[in-house]
Amino acid sequence: MKDRILERLRIAYPDFVSGADLAQSLGISRVAVWKHMDALKQAGYDIAAQKGKGYRLNDAEQVLIPSLLKKRFHHTQWGTPLYYAERTESTNLWARRLLATEPIPEGAVVLAGMQTGGRGRLGRTWSSPQGGLYFSIILRPTLDLQRASLLSLVLAVACAQSLERFINYPCKIKWPNDVMIDGLKAGGILLEASGEMDRLDHVVAGVGINVNLFRQDFPEDILGLATSLAMATGRNHDLNTLLAHLLEDLARDYYQFLDKGFEYYLELYKEYCVHLFQPIIVNTGKGRIEGIHKDVDVNGSLLIEVNGESIPISTGDVQLIHYQEE
Ligand code: BTN
Repeated sequence: MKDRILERLRIAYPDFVSGADLAQSLGISRVAVWKHMDALKQAGYDIAAQKGKGYRLNDAEQVLIPSLLKKRFHHTQWGTPLYYAERTESTNLWARRLLATEPIPEGAVVLAGMQTGGRGRLGRTWSSPQGGLYFSIILRPTLDLQRASLLSLVLAVACAQSLERFINYPCKIKWPNDVMIDGLKAGGILLEASGEMDRLDHVVAGVGINVNLFRQDFPEDILGLATSLAMATGRNHDLNTLLAHLLEDLARDYYQFLDKGFEYYLELYKEYCVHLFQPIIVNTGKGRIEGIHKDVDVNGSLLIEVNGESIPISTGDVQLIHYQEE
């Protein structure tokens, strides 16, 4: 019922919906409507109530409503089942716990309004306040374990392209899979693969996008490194519509990658790469390498030129030395 009420408020936004209309369309009493509204307010939803007008969900584009998402997203395989919580520790962690207890099909999505222990690559944390998108997709690709990392590159380019089209503002990639806007990080992907020997059993692809976040929402240590779609464009974006678009595009590119291979995405990846032909520093975990980024190869490795020699790098973190606008 909570979801159905939120859906009606969201559709009516920015108008109010009267208690009588809600009661009638939901087949419940006006007292029951009032009780549900009270519970929603207690749960943290910003609902305005005005005599003679009814109820309005303020900041409606900030609220994820699974039933609304399902109506806007039509992929046959992805998004079913859809697990949703207003808050969870980490959607990747939740997905992995589900996988340990239930037979979860490919395309299942685990979604949260906020995360209390969001995880990033290389053991980092991922700040996840309300206003961002935090979801994990369960995938069962027929791929060798070694090629699973290519999937994260493809998902990164799919994200960047999808977001760029949605917000109509340039989005790029920092190798391997950071989504960048104006030279700052706006999103990331955490791919956790599981399998035995060479065979991949499943992948949890966790995606985090800073959507309607502002300076005060970021922890101090990432200020100056992070941005959001709202900061770049100067306006908020509807989370449900954005997520529906993003899932649609991720699904299309995922199946196309399985069908055609990484080679099909290589040129597009390079086109979106923010540091191609730029000087960069890569922290490989074993040391720092500084050079000019020359290319990305078919294995997804970075090729950096250092003192005239081309060095392939397969894992690490890129630091931009300077950011040049196009
Ligand atoms: C990175 O370090 O760039 C990757 C960040 C990935 C964050 C997402 S948010 C949804 C999913 N759940 C997590 O705990 N992490 C990923």
